Amino acid sequence: MCGIIGYIGKECSANKIVLEGLKRLEYRGYDSVGVAAVDVQKRLVIKKDVGKIEEVHEKLNLLEPSSKITLGHCRWATHGAPTRENAHPHIDCKGNVAVVHNGVIENFLELKEELLEKGHRFASRTDTEVVAHLVEEGLDSGESLYNATVNALRRLKGSYALAIISTMEPDKIVCARNESPLVIGLSENSAFCASDIPAILPYTNKVIVLNNGEVAVLEAGKVEIKRVSDNMPVSREAKVIEWTIEQAEKQGYAHFMLKEIHEQPTSLRNALRLQEQYLDLITTFLDRGDKIFLLAAGTSHYACIAASYMFSKLARLATYPVISSEFIENYGDSLGIDTVVLAVSQSGETYDTLKAVDYARMKAATILGITNVVGSTLTRISRAYIVQQSGPEIGVAATKSYTAQLIVLAQLALKLAKIRGKLSQDEIDELKTNLYNIPDIVENILEKREEKVKEIAKKYAKENLFIFLGRGISTATALEGRLKLLEISYTPSLAYPAGESKHGPISVIEEGTPTIFICPNDETRKEIIGNIMEMKARGAKIISVCEEDDQKIKNLSDDIIEMPKQIHPILTPIPYIIPLQLLAYYIAVERGLDPDKPRNLAKSVTVP
Ligand code: G6P
Repeated sequence: MCGIIGYIGKECSANKIVLEGLKRLEYRGYDSVGVAAVDVQKRLVIKKDVGKIEEVHEKLNLLEPSSKITLGHCRWATHGAPTRENAHPHIDCKGNVAVVHNGVIENFLELKEELLEKGHRFASRTDTEVVAHLVEEGLDSGESLYNATVNALRRLKGSYALAIISTMEPDKIVCARNESPLVIGLSENSAFCASDIPAILPYTNKVIVLNNGEVAVLEAGKVEIKRVSDNMPVSREAKVIEWTIEQAEKQGYAHFMLKEIHEQPTSLRNALRLQEQYLDLITTFLDRGDKIFLLAAGTSHYACIAASYMFSKLARLATYPVISSEFIENYGDSLGIDTVVLAVSQSGETYDTLKAVDYARMKAATILGITNVVGSTLTRISRAYIVQQSGPEIGVAATKSYTAQLIVLAQLALKLAKIRGKLSQDEIDELKTNLYNIPDIVENILEKREEKVKEIAKKYAKENLFIFLGRGISTATALEGRLKLLEISYTPSLAYPAGESKHGPISVIEEGTPTIFICPNDETRKEIIGNIMEMKARGAKIISVCEEDDQKIKNLSDDIIEMPKQIHPILTPIPYIIPLQLLAYYIAVERGLDPDKPRNLAKSVTVP
């Protein structure tokens, strides 16, 4: 899991551009960083070390040497511990070739053995380094950088976004993609490659998404794409990306996570502007399915749990939310032509989700997708897909992408209810009005409740265990609220459907254990009051997220976060998660942690 970037131009500003790009890619990995440049004397200069970009830059001055061609890499270790040796770029024996890579080369051990036998010397324990030596082999036998790279690529098994330079041809970057994201940017006098668009957006908005099995040669102002398998040229127009750079920067907020929490009214509005034809298409496929699986990992899985209640309650349709990494084992043998898999993935690149989707495709299932990334792998392997339009999400903890997924799924449930004839027109109209009010409701909560949440965060920040409980659809909110807190504040926490709490979790309650109840005014309210009493009787401190003026719950609670009235029960997961996102954020900040860079986590997990 890493970020890569490459730049080639006519001016000697390559290092500066790569360094800026790396800062925007840092969310993809930040245990080590490195750059490779060809200097004016045509020597390869490598600078790399363990640490965050700023730390390594301070130590090594990544702005030098002056160069027209530079590669950069920020790492999240997969093969080989985070050490200087294992940091990218990796080089060949002679120091003429440099490689940066995101992905996993599955057959690197056998390739390494073969190369060692031929006398190559390895400096790292990474899978990536074999690529530099394979390219060296080709160059030694007189091949061009392009041919040497293609021949190396043909020997690789696994996933990669690769960028390669050589002092022998210092006017080119050769880059390639298989299962790890890679985009190419073009401007009049330069060319870029990067793991994602924001990295290059300050310099160009003309972007080409590279597909699996493609290799590109970048020269200043020029790109040529071919298929690795047969060298056939690929012609693809550059797309003009409408995102502004500001969208990818912090806009005055202390952290990306806070900025993205505050962007939710806008991202929700955007997600309500989807094209009807795509919603209709997905709805039709869902309606035809015999068995329907909602496939996802992490936060996206919790959106799927909420969605399974939406589909059941509105459209009377049973769906199965399944964690991607468990899907094949659990349901693989039961899949067939009547199966529909709706895969939900912010990045569209999560390894486990794509692997499960591939398996389902092989079993003739219909694949549908919801993602935030145009051109992601998920969009390319789905029969039909929806792009949720949240804009880039930089914070590792998913916030705006979660609520956007929920509102997309709610629209699908509503449409499905309509075509299946399960709701009256009046009910549909009422729900639609409710749905279109959600962005305003979220805006209102952000305006009115942030201070209260901050206070609660201060009060409980030092606690070492939190419990999150909800019933019905609010189970998803409890799970996602807990995940936010875990991810960024490292506080051990439990989340359960409240009805299950007496089958175990209640045993950990001690005097003062903060226990957060998500209790909208829906059909579960009466029972959850019972659960609150059980916990209170055992000394728990009760923090309730409930409807304003819910006197009964207020009386039972130590702290409350009030939500506006008249939110349709099926839509409560959207507004009710907002205070829990803020709670996690402010607890992390109170503890002196950086919520944008949680340890051991990455935004997009593109490796097994
Ligand atoms: C990682 C991220 C999570 C995300 C999950 C699934 O674990 O840290 O925030 O929910 O991957 O990602 P996806 O892009 O498939 O939604």
